[in-house]
Amino acid sequence: MSGMFEIKPMMAADTAAGYAELEQQLRALLGGERDYTANAANTAALLFHTVPGLNWAGFYRLVGETLVIGPFQGKPACVRIPLGQGLCGTAAARRATVRVPNCRAFPGHIACDPASNAEIVLPLLAQGRLVGVLDLDSPVLNRFSEADQTGLERLAAAFVAATDFE
Ligand code: SME
Repeated sequence: MSGMFEIKPMMAADTAAGYAELEQQLRALLGGERDYTANAANTAALLFHTVPGLNWAGFYRLVGETLVIGPFQGKPACVRIPLGQGLCGTAAARRATVRVPNCRAFPGHIACDPASNAEIVLPLLAQGRLVGVLDLDSPVLNRFSEADQTGLERLAAAFVAATDFE
């Protein structure tokens, strides 16, 4: 994408139709660019400004056995999370989405922003290889539904397909 990109709000928030629209926006935004930092930065910005009720949206990249913070929107957050620790490390180790209604009740949750209550972490798999996670936090308890999970998993897959990982 070159030039100005006008973000459209999610008209049908948290529904399959809303996420299908958002996926179109994401594909347009990432079109023609395969750089990880560029695509992760724009994806985090798009999600933060379209998905309602977020206080943090961003990426952790797998480096060896550790997740290292990548582009994000929100308050500064923990830099390194070992595999298996916190929600991010758990989603990465399981290679499965972790969606919690109340992250304070999740044993081992790493609190970066005290405003966060609900959280969803999606593993990023490039041709079966774990490359990182996408993490979204919300101050709203029980913020993320099954529809959010399905929609966000599609967006995560679109981001991975559009991006080169070393
Ligand atoms: N809560 C996460 C840490 C990352 S921040 O929320 C941005 C965790 O438990 O892994």
